[in-house]
Amino acid sequence: MTTKNISVAFVCLGNICRSPMAEAVFKNIVKENGLENRFSKIDSFGTASYHVGDKPDHRTADTCKKHGVPINHRGQQIKEQNFNEFDYIICMDEENLYNLNRIKPASSKAVVKLFGDWGSDPKYGRIVEDPYYGGSSGFEKCYNQCVHFSKEFLRKELDITL
Ligand code: 4NP
Repeated sequence: MTTKNISVAFVCLGNICRSPMAEAVFKNIVKENGLENRFSKIDSFGTASYHVGDKPDHRTADTCKKHGVPINHRGQQIKEQNFNEFDYIICMDEENLYNLNRIKPASSKAVVKLFGDWGSDPKYGRIVEDPYYGGSSGFEKCYNQCVHFSKEFLRKELDITL
């Protein structure tokens, strides 16, 4: 039997707040559950270029640290070629989704969807809202959404219940 080995990219606007947190949380859940062999690549990107090369926002780093989640990323902007390198391109809000669908090449087979589309509890909502201009509670909410949506992604796409 061959096991599906998949690649996942998380996308937000700046790639310094939400999507690096999603990447870090997802990777941590994968690692803690010994699922690394099910993934060929897990990465994150922004639709915008303002923060290319930047470290994650200090509030994203603090929230990850508080929950014991390692985070190590530098901002990068998604490019057309990335649509042929990932099976799943998972974004945070409707604006990200609109921008991704605008640049997605017709040849791409990537599934492009909201992270919240995998949610199964209305308490987490469907949109991971931009926490950049708000307080630390927005980052905590983002963290809790990332945990729920990550587990539900693994359950629904790979039949793995944690
Ligand atoms: P992110 O948050 O999309 O979650 O990384 C933002 C980061 C930076 C900006 C906006 C949102 N900005 O306008 O610079």
